[in-house]
Amino acid sequence: MRLAGVPAARYSIAAFDVSGAALELARRGEYPQKSLGHVSEELRNACGSVGSKTMTVHPELRERVHFERKNLAAPGALGPEPKYHLILCRNLFIYLGAEARAELARSLAVALLPGGRLFLGTADRVEELNALFAPMRPAASFAFVHRAQPVSVAPRTRRPRLPPEAAQKASPVRPPRPVQSQPPSPMTAAELYHRALDHRLRGEIAKAERRCRQSLYLAPNFLPALELLQALWDRNPNMRLRRALRDRIVRNREATI
Ligand SMILES: C[S@@+](CC[C@H](N)C(=O)[O-])C[C@H]1O[C@@H](n2cnc3c(N)ncnc32)[C@H](O)[C@@H]1O
Repeated sequence: MRLAGVPAARYSIAAFDVSGAALELARRGEYPQKSLGHVSEELRNACGSVGSKTMTVHPELRERVHFERKNLAAPGALGPEPKYHLILCRNLFIYLGAEARAELARSLAVALLPGGRLFLGTADRVEELNALFAPMRPAASFAFVHRAQPVSVAPRTRRPRLPPEAAQKASPVRPPRPVQSQPPSPMTAAELYHRALDHRLRGEIAKAERRCRQSLYLAPNFLPALELLQALWDRNPNMRLRRALRDRIVRNREATI
C-alpha cells in the first residue's frame, strides 16, 4: 500500500491468530533480517527501519494493523458480511482437519468482497476452496479470486458402460492423441510434502520419511515438512537427530512468525 502511494488513512489491516504469543510477536513488528531474504531492499526500506540484524516496521504502519485473538476454524469466524479486499491466509489450512478447513473456506468466502483476492501459502492446496474461489493462474495454488457465484462441486459420476458396438456408435471418432514426449515435470517441495502426508495416512512411514526428506532437500526451511518429519521420528531412538530437528523447527518458527 505504501509503495503504491495509498495514504495510511485509506486502509487498515485486521490480523488474527489463535495464539496470544504469536500475536505478541507480531505486534512488536520486528523481523530478523535472515527471514526477509525474499523481500526486496526497496520494500524493506519503505516499510521499516532496517538494522544489521532486524527490521522494525514503521510505527505508522503498525498503527494500521488491528490484532485480534481468534480461532479462524470456528464457524463464521470472520463475521457475517463481506468486508475485505484482500485476505492473506498463509500456512494455516495445512494445520486443519477437513471439517475446520471447510469452515474456514466458508468464512473466507463470506468475508472477501466480490472480486477480492485471497492468497494462501504454496503448500495450502485446499479442495474446499474450489467451489468458492477461482485460481488466478492455472498453475498457481496460492492466488485466488472470489467467484461471483459459488459453483457446486458435484462428485464425479461415471458414465454407464455400453456394450462395444453401442459405444462405437455413441462416441464420435476422435483423432489419436499426440504422443507426450516431454518428461513429467519434477515435483515441488509442497507436492512432495503432500505425498508424504498421504503415505503417513496410509501408515507407510518409510515412504513418508523419504518424501519429507525430498521436500526438505528442495526447501530446507519448509516448516510443514520439518514438522511432519518430527512426527514421523517420534519414536526414533536417535536423540541427537531428534534434538537437531527440534532446534531447526524452533529456529524456523521464530523466523516465520
Ligand atoms: C505456520 S504459522 C504461519 C504464519 C504466517 N501466516 C506465515 O505464513 O508465515 C501458522 C499460524 O497459524 C496459527 N493458527 C493455527 N491454528 C489456528 C486457528 N484455528 N485460528 C487462527 N490461527 C491459527 C498459529 O498460531 C500460527 O501462528
